[in-house]
Amino acid sequence: MSNLKGKHIILGISGGIAAYKSVMLLRLLVKKGAEVQVVITPNGKEFITPVTLSSLSGKPVVSEFFTANTGEWHSHVDLGIWADLMIVAPATASTIGKMANGIADNMLITTYLSAKEQVMVAPAMDLDMWRHPSTQRNIETLRRDGVIIVEPEAGELASGLIGKGRMEEPEKIAEAAERYFSRQEELHGKKVLVTAGPTFENIDPVRFIGNYSSGKMGFAIAEEFAERGADVVLIAGPVNVPLRAEGIRRIDVTSAREMRDACVSHFNDMDYVVLAAAVADYAPAEVSDVKIKREGTDGMTLHLVKNPDIAATLGALKKNQKLIGFALETDHELENALHKLKKKNLDWIVLNSLRDPDAGFMKDTNKVTVVGASGEVIDFPAKQKSEVAKDIIDVVVNGETE
Ligand code: CTP
Repeated sequence: MSNLKGKHIILGISGGIAAYKSVMLLRLLVKKGAEVQVVITPNGKEFITPVTLSSLSGKPVVSEFFTANTGEWHSHVDLGIWADLMIVAPATASTIGKMANGIADNMLITTYLSAKEQVMVAPAMDLDMWRHPSTQRNIETLRRDGVIIVEPEAGELASGLIGKGRMEEPEKIAEAAERYFSRQEELHGKKVLVTAGPTFENIDPVRFIGNYSSGKMGFAIAEEFAERGADVVLIAGPVNVPLRAEGIRRIDVTSAREMRDACVSHFNDMDYVVLAAAVADYAPAEVSDVKIKREGTDGMTLHLVKNPDIAATLGALKKNQKLIGFALETDHELENALHKLKKKNLDWIVLNSLRDPDAGFMKDTNKVTVVGASGEVIDFPAKQKSEVAKDIIDVVVNGETE
């Protein structure tokens, strides 16, 4: 039985020749037991009639903000709450551009902007439009916003040209939807703790010692775990990153000691613990209650004391939890990473080298090597941090790569 049974799906149709394939997709989704609400753009109606779509879905098709003769308002907000998944197929270059930039001039885009559910996009356009840097930029933006892209196929296009741009076949789009829902079940019931971001160690009420960690890698890991159905507690140092996934319990902390206390108090129940935070190694021995004045001094010396090592603390408490650390190294990378893995009693350590231009702080990309306690060394190419998060989780959950 398909896992689409009983699922609420919004099918967004924009104006492209491939709209005829959306009829097949709609039939397929309904056959697999999904409840489908079609939202069509004004241009979409030039390619396929609402009557066909409403008779197949068993629901009136939504296109305008109001029904003209009754004044009934179609609430895109309610649709966003109702749906478990939104599929935009075909997504034209224009619809993709509007989605990427929040240009809410039709019901499909307002529905997208109100979507609380996962959104999936199946682009369809001519090869030059697909290749255009503007389209590619918009696709990248959507990816970064968490949208799943069902890549177009190469083949004969409506223009007669041959190349990439043809919307993926309805069966493949339905399979992508099924894959999304089964992924959601993958880690159902598992408990995960993730640390992210820097820690700030106060000197006085206005100054601190910190570092450049953006928190992006840890947030991406927390989001990916949540998307696979795990219960996630995210312990975040001071960062400015929005959380994209629902269902993550976020605890904000400032200093290493606060982070340690939060980690220790949640550690017992956990199945996986990922320590992606860049914890400050030292903190001022004393924190001044008042702002330290410059006047009358030639300089100052700060006396620093060692912060607790959170990874090592948890490593010592470990029972069945899988403990995953990070190592950011500039030299002797593998050797240093292995040393940290052993010393802190980790199961896996994710190594990134500052020598690599695609890796490190403040970046959206990362290039990692995942090293296991049993001697595994798995290299990955440079990728977006959201993709790196998938690779790391695949390894630590399954002990293997896709
Ligand atoms: N870590 C931690 N608590 C600390 C320092 C580090 O939990 N006080 C964790 C990090 O979150 C990371 C791993 O330990 O998962 C390695 O961090 P790193 O800064 O590379 O290691 P250090 O032990 O601080 O070693 P060094 O700074 O000497 O390279």
